[in-house]
Amino acid sequence: MSEPENTAEREFPPICDYEGSTYQTEFWEQGGREYEDRVEAIALRRLLPPKGELLLEVGAGAGRNTPRYQGYDRIVLLDYSITQLQQAQARLGRDERYIYVAADAYRLPFVKGLFDSATMIRVLHHMAHGPKVIRGIREVLRPGGVFILEFANKRNLKAIARYLLRKQTWNPFDPHPIEFVELNFNFHPATTRQWLREAGFAIEQQLTVSHFRIWWLKRVVPISWLVALDAALQWTGNWWQYSPSVFLRSRAQGESVLAAPGTFFRCLQCGNTTFHQTSQQITCQTCGTQWAIHDGIYNFKSPVSTNLSFG
Ligand SMILES: C[S@@+](CC[C@H](N)C(=O)[O-])C[C@H]1O[C@@H](n2cnc3c(N)ncnc32)[C@H](O)[C@@H]1O
Ligand SMILES: [Zn+2]
Repeated sequence: MSEPENTAEREFPPICDYEGSTYQTEFWEQGGREYEDRVEAIALRRLLPPKGELLLEVGAGAGRNTPRYQGYDRIVLLDYSITQLQQAQARLGRDERYIYVAADAYRLPFVKGLFDSATMIRVLHHMAHGPKVIRGIREVLRPGGVFILEFANKRNLKAIARYLLRKQTWNPFDPHPIEFVELNFNFHPATTRQWLREAGFAIEQQLTVSHFRIWWLKRVVPISWLVALDAALQWTGNWWQYSPSVFLRSRAQGESVLAAPGTFFRCLQCGNTTFHQTSQQITCQTCGTQWAIHDGIYNFKSPVSTNLSFG
C-alpha cells in the first residue's frame, strides 16, 4: 500500500470524528448486533493474554470491550472523541484502574515501551494511513508486548459474490484498501499482515470472526447457535480469511526500549517525559506546554497553551 503523497496528510492523517455520536446505543444496544458482540468477545478472550499490568485500548469508544480486560491492573482508554470517553466513564466509573485519554491514535502521547498489551477493535477501518498508526502502537509496546488488532476484511464471501455478480465494481482480491464511504475502509488480509510485519510485529494467531453477519440469518437462526458455529469456525483463520472481520494477535519483535520507571506520558511538542500535574492540567516540565484534564479525562488533542520561551 502506498504512503499518502501529501506531507501534511502523512503527518496528520484525517480523523473520523465520533464527537457527539450515539454509536454505542444505536449501533450496539438497539442495532441488533448481539451476535457480533458475542463473537468478538470470544475472539478477544482467545487471543489476549488474560493478565497484565498495563493495557492500551486504542479507539476505545464508549468502552464496550473494556470490561473484557479484567485481568489488567490498569487500562488506558484512548479515543479522539471526548463524548465517547464520557460515555465510557459513565459505564465503567471513575475507578483508578481506568485512565481516560483523548488523543489522536496517530500521535500517541506515551513514552516508548510502556504497555504490555494493546488492542484496536473496529478502529483500523477509519484509518486512511494504517501503517502509521500500527507503527505508533509498536513503539509504545514493551519488548514482547502483544497487540490484538481487528480489521474489516475486504476479501469476504459477500464482497466476492457481489463482485462476481457484477453488483460491486471494486475487486475484493486487490491488495489496496477500499474506501467505500469517506474514512471507512476495508482491508486485504495480506496487506494488513504486511503492515504489521513492517512495523516490527510477528503474527502469532489469526481468527476469522462474524461469519454469519447476515441480517435474515440472524432473524431465523437462534443467536446462540450462530455464536457457537462462529466460535468453531474462528480457528480456521490461520488457514484462510473470508469472513467480514479478522482478529490478529501479534507480538512486538526486535529492538525496543522499556519505559523508564515512573514515566508515562510523552510531550507531543518536545518529546520529553517529565510533567507537573494538577487535577485540571498537565504541564511539560521541559517546554511548558499544557494540556487540560476535564473531569478525569486527559485532553491531548490540542494544548491549552504552549510556552516557546519556557525554561
Ligand atoms: C467504530 S468505533 C469502535 C469503538 C470500540 N473500539 C468498539 O469496538 O466498540 C471507532 C472509534 O475509533 C475512534 N477513532 C477514530 N479515529 C481515531 C483516531 N485517529 N484517534 C483516536 N480515536 C479514533 C472513534 O472516535 C470511535 O470511538
Ligand atoms: Zn514538552
